[in-house]
Amino acid sequence: MRKGRATDGRAEPLRQMRLRPGTASLSARYAMRPVELADAEALLEWRNDFETRRLARTQGVISLRDHMKWLEAAIADEARLYRVLWDVGAEADVPLASVRYDLEPDTGCAEVSILVAPTGRGRGIGRVALEQSLPELRQWRPEVTEVLAVVHENNLASRRLFESTGYTYRDSDGDWRTYVLAL
Ligand SMILES: CC(C)(COP(=O)(O)OP(=O)(O)OC[C@H]1O[C@@H](n2cnc3c(N)ncnc32)[C@H](O)[C@@H]1OP(=O)(O)O)[C@@H](O)C(=O)NCCC(=O)NCCS
Repeated sequence: MRKGRATDGRAEPLRQMRLRPGTASLSARYAMRPVELADAEALLEWRNDFETRRLARTQGVISLRDHMKWLEAAIADEARLYRVLWDVGAEADVPLASVRYDLEPDTGCAEVSILVAPTGRGRGIGRVALEQSLPELRQWRPEVTEVLAVVHENNLASRRLFESTGYTYRDSDGDWRTYVLAL
């Protein structure tokens, strides 16, 4: 059952977490739901985090105004599946990570983007979010046969994440490497 939203200290449940005992037990604790406009503040904070921007394709700080416009369009876009992972056992509905699949027209491909709350990184949340989003992708668009992930060469956490969740390395242009998951 969904909980009330956190009114302050959004990151507090993350600070209390001590994760990585193994993803099976983590998976039971977390669930995915559609992104909502009420998630805007958290998503913007994660996107504007220094570490996120350092290894992103667009590195500038995004304003709240631009973010709101982008988020509204992203939620309404039928070629995008946009989900957040949240802790079912927490007192408030605090998003922990987001996963987005952008459909590429007429190719059977979707590109995945994943973002974990900065205070929750390195605890296995990225893996759980990626794994839990796959059945949703399959249900949303059964015709998708390939998922692509484009990762900066220096993004070791992201490279490791995709390499350990079934994606295979395809190629690199020297800065960006592409991974592929065959469905
Ligand atoms: C990349 C990101 C999604 C990874 O999520 P995460 O929850 O921190 O990762 P996890 O804890 O699930 O770890 C996944 C793997 O990466 C490894 N890892 C995590 N942090 C790492 C780091 N800083 N350096 C090297 N490896 C790391 C883990 O050991 C794990 O590998 P293992 O299963 O072999 O042990 C997260 O760090 C993030 O949101 N970064 C900013 C946005 C981004 O780069 N998105 C990806 C671009 S598509």
